[in-house]
Parts: sequence; C-alpha cells; structure tokens
Amino acid sequence: MSCPIRSIEGQDGEQLGEEVGMLYGEYLMLDKILKAQRMLSEQNNQPVHDEHLFIVTHQAYELWFKQIIYELDSIRNIFSDVLEESQTLEILKRLNRVVLILKVLVDQVMILETMTPLDFMDFRCYLRPASGFQSLQFRLLENKLGVRQENRVKYNQNYVKVFGNDPKALEEIEKSEKEPSLTDLVQRWLERTPGLEMEGFDFWGKYQRAVARLLEEQKILAEAETSESLKRYKLNDLEKRREVYESIFKPEVHQALVARGERRFSHKALQGSIMITFYRDEPRFSQPHQILTLLMDIDSLITKWRYNHVLMVQRMIGSSQLGTGGSSGYQYLRSTLSDRYKVFVDLFNLSTFLIPRSYIPSLTTSMRSHLCNWRTAGNDVIVTNGN
Ligand code: HEM
Repeated sequence: MSCPIRSIEGQDGEQLGEEVGMLYGEYLMLDKILKAQRMLSEQNNQPVHDEHLFIVTHQAYELWFKQIIYELDSIRNIFSDVLEESQTLEILKRLNRVVLILKVLVDQVMILETMTPLDFMDFRCYLRPASGFQSLQFRLLENKLGVRQENRVKYNQNYVKVFGNDPKALEEIEKSEKEPSLTDLVQRWLERTPGLEMEGFDFWGKYQRAVARLLEEQKILAEAETSESLKRYKLNDLEKRREVYESIFKPEVHQALVARGERRFSHKALQGSIMITFYRDEPRFSQPHQILTLLMDIDSLITKWRYNHVLMVQRMIGSSQLGTGGSSGYQYLRSTLSDRYKVFVDLFNLSTFLIPRSYIPSLTTSMRSHLCNWRTAGNDVIVTNGN
C-alpha cells in the first residue's frame, strides 16, 4: 500500500504542495478519543450536564496515569543498569516530569469540585458498580513505585479481585508486583554510595562517632543545669534521642522496624541516603541529592492527591455512604492516607538523624577528590562525564 498524499494549503488558501503523512486528527486518533464520552444519563433520556465533566476528568486522569507509568518504566530500566552521568540527568528530567504531572493531577480535583453533590446525585445511580477502585493503571502505578501488598490497608489488600474476569489485567498486576519497583532499584543504587566502604572512608563509623560525641556533649550541658526539673527533662529527652539513633545503628532494631512496615530501606541504603544528604554540595552527590528530593516530591504529591480525592468524596457523598465500588467510601479512603502508602517514607524521616553541620565528619583528601572526580565510577551511585 502506498503512503497517503495530502495537499497542503497556506493561510490564504493557496496550494503549498503535497506531503506524505497524516493530519492532526488522524495522528492523535481523535476520532476514537473524542467519541469516547458516552453519557449514561443521556442514554437514559435524562441528560445531566455534569456527567460530561465527570467522564472527561476521569479520562484525563487515566491518560496522565499512562504517561507517568511510561516515564516510571523508563526510569526503572535506567536504574536497573549501571548508571552513567548522562543517564542520571535523564532520570532527573523524567522524575521532574512525573512530579509536574502529579501537580496537575492534584489540582485537577478542583475542576471536578465545581460539580455540586446534587448534580452528582443526578447521575451517580448509573455508575454502580464502576469505581476508581477498579483503575488498573492506578494499581500498576502504586506497585511500580513500590507500594507493597502487606502495607495496604486490609480492604485494599483484595484489590486484585476486581480484575478477576480480565486475565490480561491480572497478568499485568502480577508482573508489577514481582518486578523490582522503583523503591527496590533506588535502594540498590543507594547501597553503592561511594564512601560507605568500611575499609575506605567508612562514613558509617565516622557518623556513629560524631553522634556519640554530640550526645555526650549535650549530656554534659544537661547535667550542668541548676534546675533539677529542667535537668531531668533534658536528660530524658537525650535518652529518647539516643534510642532513636540506636534504631539506625543497631541493624537488628532497624530490621525489626522494616518487618513492622515502619521502614522500607535496607540498612545500607539508609546509610547511603544519609551520606548523600550530608555531602550534597560535593559535585558527585549533587544530582543524587536532587533525585532523592524528587522521589520525596512524588510520594508527597500522591499523598496530596489521596487527600484531595478523599475531601472531594466527603463533599460529594458524605462520610457514611458506601462507594459505588463497594468500600466504606470516605472511611476507607481516609485510611489510605497513612505512612504505609509512602514508598519513600525513609527519606522523609531522614531529618530525624541529621546532626549539626559542625559535627558532620570532614571528608578526607582522597574522599573529597573522589567526590569531585567525574571519572568512570563503575558501580558507584554516581556517574561520570567520561573524563
Ligand atoms: C465525584 C467524584 C468522585 C467520587 C465521589 C469518588 C469516590 C470514590 C470512592 C467512594 C472510592 C472508594 C472505592 C469505592 O468504594 O468506590 C474511590 C476510589 C478511587 N477513586 Fe474516586 N471518586 C471520584 C473521583 C475520582 C477521580 C476524578 C479519579 C481519578 C482517576 C478517581 C480515582 C479513584 C481511585 C484511583 C480510587 C482507588 C483509591 C484507592 O483504593 O486507594 N476518583 N473513589
């Protein structure tokens, strides 16, 4: 079959020539997309104006979910190889894109909120049993980011059931649960942070000694308090802080927190993220630090989306009506706002373990030059410009 030939017209209608290819509508398959707004209220001869907005909003969400998944898959692919500098930039660019899309998705809720609960009631009866709970792409997105089955709230642990009649969806879900998630891959990358090696810079050993010195000096200050109650208060507080630090210094305590779902990162990955946070001004840690910030932004924006969505749900159906998908509605959605759904929760909690700048272990000359040196870094967390 030959390529289609189109004649191209200029602004004044003059013929500019002929070109091979497709026109705008064909390229974007608008005939399909723009015909996909079937209003059930209209089909039932009781058209409700706002049903159109309801459909378009959901479709826009699904298209953006598709783009996010597309970006996430590509980022996961890059992470699963040994990184090179140009790829680190690509990761940053794509993560930033995901963040910007999520910002749009968070704000998009407001457009749907221009619909009043009464307007919604006019067509809600046609929706049952359809629900966002059946959004395959939303579940894939969660799984690819790293939301684990055991961390979901009880009702949500059964989410796969809704795809029971769709073997292709089930296959995709299973794959997304088995493949390394973005969190898994980020952890592996952090575990290779240069400077963690005990026989080298031994960041972790130096950091533990810095914390011990900090706590010891604060203990001396607390004991010098003349007021007995203030002294007791400060010493108690110090004891609590010591326990908090022990939770990262004692691998078995860290592991117990991981088992309880309160931490996700491996012990080594946690060390890498603390090190990058401390030395983010060194050239080789600058991009990794930006990556960590964007990962937190992603978690933060998804939580904001969950929150905006749950507020909208309360506004539309109140807090005691069941959802069209069969859950307790508002109550179920509110329970998903927990930290258990934050896949990078450890990055948020890093601030707990920061120490004043003056206590941060100084870099040795060789470590400093290692972190300035943009040469091939093999398995290191960062990569190089090939010089
Ligand atoms: C009037 C507007 C909306 C209402 C009243 C509403 C209501 C609900 C309710 C009650 C649930 C819980 C499951 C159930 O029992 O049905 C739910 C889940 C969900 N909805 Fe919405 N929704 C609205 C708009 C949206 C929009 C615009 C999206 C965008 C895609 C969306 C996506 C989702 C998703 C992904 C879930 C599953 C969340 C989870 O399980 O963590 N919803 N919705």
